[in-house]
Amino acid sequence: MNHDLGSIAAALVAKGKGILAADETVPTLTKRFDALGIQSTEQSRCAYREMLFTSVGAAEFISGVIMYDETMRQKSSSGVSFAHLLSDQGMLPGIKVDTGAKPLAGSSGEKVTEGLDGLRDRLSEYRDMGARFAKWRAVIRITNTLPSAACVSANAHALARYAALCQEQHLVPIVEPEVLMDGSHTIVRCEDVTGMVLHAVFRALVEQRVVLEHMLLKPNMVIAGDECSRPVKVQEVAVATLRCLRRHVPAAVPGIVFLSGGQDDLVATAHLNAINRMPRPKPWKISFSYGRALQDPALKAWHGRDENLKLGQQALYHRARCNGAASLGLYTDEMEAVSAGG
Ligand code: 13P
Repeated sequence: MNHDLGSIAAALVAKGKGILAADETVPTLTKRFDALGIQSTEQSRCAYREMLFTSVGAAEFISGVIMYDETMRQKSSSGVSFAHLLSDQGMLPGIKVDTGAKPLAGSSGEKVTEGLDGLRDRLSEYRDMGARFAKWRAVIRITNTLPSAACVSANAHALARYAALCQEQHLVPIVEPEVLMDGSHTIVRCEDVTGMVLHAVFRALVEQRVVLEHMLLKPNMVIAGDECSRPVKVQEVAVATLRCLRRHVPAAVPGIVFLSGGQDDLVATAHLNAINRMPRPKPWKISFSYGRALQDPALKAWHGRDENLKLGQQALYHRARCNGAASLGLYTDEMEAVSAGG
């Protein structure tokens, strides 16, 4: 496999493929387990990740997997590190390297993502362990008065510093500025804020001399807040999202991989499909880097029980297949029906 950054970025957005984000921190995965009554232990989290990573055939649609530090240091039941287990199947191992979103001083209710201290050494260690790409997530909240300029610029700066360090250490950075869907804001407001955030992020990336050809962008889609009273059609999301990206993402970036952000899994697939079906020119590949929208059905089917392993794997395979089709604009409702019927 070619290990130069341009080839890795291209492989992550290869035709019909996207990324599985399985990098929940221990508290976040514990919350997801708790909701289903699954006990969260180092062992059960390891078993869950092994179930996902050994889903037969999923590599046809999944180019890479983002892991959390705990998983990166764990081994499969056959004694192989997860990084090697993935690369043996043709999936690139990735790693979340930020240390979380912390309260932003001087602001009420906003956060800045931390993790720059010591990052160079951590990146070098992860690369030696087999990682080929990394992820850093910034979160931006919308209210009537937020986000503040301070929140946007602090997060953009940190994302750019992280991305420059990744490239120095021969890892492809996934740059993730997530404008949250929490709240009652309209799709119009989401488009305004997303555009402003992307503008600030690319300005910072250029300032920090990040090579745009050697990174991927992981943005939110342009959608209304989850408490917005006006329903928004799939087509409206596609139009607003592509318009916003065309205005703010340089053509040098090889790929855009969306986060799902709490969207229902079928809706996240339909949105990705509609964006890819838009007739307007798209200078980048557009695919997925979903966490919940890929994993939720698999986690429910598995439910922490060994005897459900195959059911969990089939559920992951199915969503990966549907999203792989959506990354080409070829997803249809019938694909869901076929699976439901076996
Ligand atoms: P979701 O798709 O669940 O939003 O997760 C993607 C992700 O990696 C968030 O950082």
